Amino acid sequence: MTPQKIIIDTDPGQDDAAAIMLALASPEIDVLGVTAVAGNVPLALTERNARIVTEICGRGDIAVYAGADKPLARKLVTAEHVHGKTGLDGVDLFDPGRPIEKKHAVDFIIETLRSEPAGTVTLCLLGPLTNIAMVIERAPDVVGRIKQIVLMGGGFFEGGNITPSAEFNIYVDPEAAKIVFGAGVPLTMMPLDVTHKVLTTKVRVERLRANGNRASVVMADMLEFFERFDEEKYGTDGGPLHDPTVIAWLLDPGMFAGRHCNVEIETGSELSLGATVVDWWKVTGRPENAFVARDVDADRFFDLLIERLGRL
Ligand code: RIB
Ligand code: CA
Repeated sequence: MTPQKIIIDTDPGQDDAAAIMLALASPEIDVLGVTAVAGNVPLALTERNARIVTEICGRGDIAVYAGADKPLARKLVTAEHVHGKTGLDGVDLFDPGRPIEKKHAVDFIIETLRSEPAGTVTLCLLGPLTNIAMVIERAPDVVGRIKQIVLMGGGFFEGGNITPSAEFNIYVDPEAAKIVFGAGVPLTMMPLDVTHKVLTTKVRVERLRANGNRASVVMADMLEFFERFDEEKYGTDGGPLHDPTVIAWLLDPGMFAGRHCNVEIETGSELSLGATVVDWWKVTGRPENAFVARDVDADRFFDLLIERLGRL
């Protein structure tokens, strides 16, 4: 089967790192490039972290591009309280061997969409949507060439995480999210309603560590740092492992359940800024612009993640 061509747009972030590892460990996926965006930590760190993670996977061949260092129209909000100062706290980091690409991430995405056959490239979005909104605004001609967008972001019955009503990736750049959700590209949304069901329990982290290879041990160490904030907040064994759900959707969509809905983004209210208003019960009659996942088989998800990371 021809591997699925993807671009990963990311703000590593320990959970982003798990998603990048899952993609690079899977022969069904061809990662054309990784683009970094400011989010969990500033861009200078997210782009460096992306290069560190690809190197840990033995994939120094993967080009990493730096994109937006702040949202379209707002001050950057970061999440060091969750991810630590480096964005990848939990492990000793190193200076990556491969330099950052000179080309801007937005230019890389536009050029790739123009050069690859139309309808063959999937955009996997793991952070604030600033880069992709800039692609859509700067090059409307490429929008119809995007095969699909699969993103981690939003929440509805589960509410928010950075505010009571907003999830971080959407909250950081709600104007960008409005552009992306309104672009008419086939879109799959992995919200907190799903990611809060895939918890990095002690048993699962130890199963990952037992793989024994470098990537698995490093990821287990990262997760033990990353999960502490959410364990404290939610009182759970383990924390939500958000971003790898995007890659798992490409590899085994049958582990998820959801429905096509209308999703709109709140950009006006300071109280509920960045809320994803999901018309799950179809009361508005507004066009269904996203497939919204709501449930996931968590054991099937972790079996996939652990088995694949053991291959790196
Ligand atoms: O709200 C969770 C999302 O925000 C994840 O993508 C995490 O990495 C942060 O970017
Ligand atoms: Ca992320």
